[in-house]
Amino acid sequence: MIRAALIGLGVIGKVHSAAIESLQNAVLAAVCDTDPSKKSQVPSGAVFYDDYEEMFRREKLDVVHICLPHFLHYPAAKAAAEAGLNIFAEKPLALNGKEAAEFVKLEDRYGVKICLCLQNRLNPTTETLCRLLHSGYYGALTGIRGSVSWYRSREYYQAGPWRGIMAQAGGGCMINQAIHTLDLMQYFAGSPVVRVRGSIAQILDYGLEVEDTAVGHFEFENGAAGLFTASVANYTDENVELSLRCEGAEFSLRDRKLFRLRGEEHELLASDTAEFSGKAVYGNSHVKLIGRFYQVLETGEGWYIRPEEGLPSLAMIDAVRESSRTGATVCV
Ligand SMILES: NC(=O)c1ccc[n+]([C@@H]2O[C@H](COP(=O)([O-])OP(=O)(O)OC[C@H]3O[C@@H](n4cnc5c(N)ncnc54)[C@H](O)[C@@H]3O)[C@@H](O)[C@H]2O)c1
Repeated sequence: MIRAALIGLGVIGKVHSAAIESLQNAVLAAVCDTDPSKKSQVPSGAVFYDDYEEMFRREKLDVVHICLPHFLHYPAAKAAAEAGLNIFAEKPLALNGKEAAEFVKLEDRYGVKICLCLQNRLNPTTETLCRLLHSGYYGALTGIRGSVSWYRSREYYQAGPWRGIMAQAGGGCMINQAIHTLDLMQYFAGSPVVRVRGSIAQILDYGLEVEDTAVGHFEFENGAAGLFTASVANYTDENVELSLRCEGAEFSLRDRKLFRLRGEEHELLASDTAEFSGKAVYGNSHVKLIGRFYQVLETGEGWYIRPEEGLPSLAMIDAVRESSRTGATVCV
């Protein structure tokens, strides 16, 4: 039986808590949050702490889930790794590429396993498209477009003021909402981004330090071109859209369905499930990824998303920000 703990019982912490509780081979042994009001939301049987170091000392744990504001990801992960604990870490890996480079050393340095929560890689639509693209059957990818159009209210930032502070969030819509889409763009491309131009803006007048809107143009090493748009200034949360063109086919991922486009005809290739344990836009693969990671912890066999996988999307974000600041093309 895997004994799990969770740090940060906020919006996503509750999704993790429900996911852990739904697994037959796991128990949520402890929860840590500095906000005392969260104690009443802790599932029965789990011990509440307001200091994660104390939780690490007192509890016998196999894994700790980090569901904290971005600036606390690396310090909490380092403390957990020093305590010899395996880690399931929410995205982003860290505040920026520089800090992320330190994060990826933790697994080897402390001999622990760390799974990064890029759960959308496990969506059936993603898995199907990846298999098709990487089979080589449709030829090389030539272009990809990723688009995120969501809405985040003033209240969303008031509920978690860290989300609007650059030193605590590391940015706005790119690192917080659209990082999954950036990750999927480079994952589907199967090739590193080499050149980036981009622009970021604050369209909503919330007085935040972070961007709410961003555009990026990417050149991948294999020659494919990518266009990325993201905004949380839309009137609602629309489903993420990804369009891809290969030498021999065109694909569209929208409304949580994967289509192959043949002129006017849209052939349905895969669908994601319609029931969600959190917001629909998070997708439904948290529990799948957590389950896979726990299996690796139990048996030593299997696959999970290594921390290194979090580096490309952070590099894309850093480059869009740098290009927006300087007006120049950034070589990654
Ligand atoms: N994978 C996804 O689809 C997805 C979706 C939403 C959020 N997230 C990520 O989850 C993380 C948390 O985001 P959120 O929206 O749930 O934030 P949140 O502000 O709702 O929750 C953070 C919680 O951490 C607690 N906290 C702060 N400092 C602490 C400390 N030192 N020790 C213990 N607890 C502390 C806060 O009291 C709060 O309850 C972020 O990294 C975010 O990007 C991921």
